[in-house]
Amino acid sequence: MSEEKELSYSEAIQRAGTNICRFPLIPVRGIPLMCYIANNWDSIWAFRPDPSDLLIATYPKAGTTWTQEIVDLLLNNGDAEACKRAPTPVRSPFLELFSPPPIPSGLDQLKKTDPPRIIKTHLPLQLVPTGFWENKCKVIYVARNAKDNLVSYFHFDCMNLTQPEPGPWEGYIPKFMRGELPWGSWYDHVKGYWMERETKNILYLFYEDMKENPRREVERIMRYLDMSVSDEVISRIVELTSFKNMKENPMANYSCVPAPVFDQSISSFMRKGEVGDWRNHFTPEQSKMFDEDYEKQMKDVNIPFRDLI
Ligand code: PPS
Repeated sequence: MSEEKELSYSEAIQRAGTNICRFPLIPVRGIPLMCYIANNWDSIWAFRPDPSDLLIATYPKAGTTWTQEIVDLLLNNGDAEACKRAPTPVRSPFLELFSPPPIPSGLDQLKKTDPPRIIKTHLPLQLVPTGFWENKCKVIYVARNAKDNLVSYFHFDCMNLTQPEPGPWEGYIPKFMRGELPWGSWYDHVKGYWMERETKNILYLFYEDMKENPRREVERIMRYLDMSVSDEVISRIVELTSFKNMKENPMANYSCVPAPVFDQSISSFMRKGEVGDWRNHFTPEQSKMFDEDYEKQMKDVNIPFRDLI
């Protein structure tokens, strides 16, 4: 038996050292995923959740961490200290995440956590392990308007030194439009969960609604989880999950992931947290070109996205 004490998340990242780089993408059933994820795909696909597990699914940068924090606080009746027991990726494992050892994979974290677990994924619906549907697990999907999602992803790709180089902003927009970024097409992602939201009992939320009226959305999540907490607890959860408070909370702001992976001197994980920041990035021409393509890619659905509130 190993005498070595278990490494913290951030120690494990430091230990992985020079094995960390901007990993190339390998397609898994047509979806580009970082090579560590693609190379471990069989074990991810074989994951069997407990029926009590909850899945929080998003396209990257749509409001995952915010929703993870809301759910953890709901399950802990608004107890701020209980929700500071560990950083987000330990409290709420990232299903498909695989990185160089000794960084624990999402599956390692899941093994160490008893159900009911709050599981994060960015997988598109067709790549979610079938056990989630067979066991009728609850699933919360959070969607964010395409332009703000793209802007947030661009800044994240600048600071996340394990994702492919974003390149210059003007070249990043077409990569997003063509679905070439990790986890593939935003358009297919948001549509995939939208189409199945009723048959699979998925709670489909919008980042913009959460910004507009966080209390209403926290209550919506509470009802979906068949829970009931007091008005006072709801108010506390809304306060604790404000952008400002989460940015200052070391257990929610990803300061647990040190610079070889997240270089927060380039861009903060908790960057702006706003609706409409795309207007500070897209030129009028870029916006027009993006909107014309958007119309085509989204013509088969009517998902009520708002890019301003
Ligand atoms: S990840 O890496 O995919 O899990 O990122 P994710 O958490 O989905 O998205 C990060 C963006 O969400 C913003 N954020 C918030 N906005 C408002 N309120 C709260 N509490 C909050 N927490 C996180 C975060 O700032 C990122 O958006 P941008 O636009 O880059 O600021």
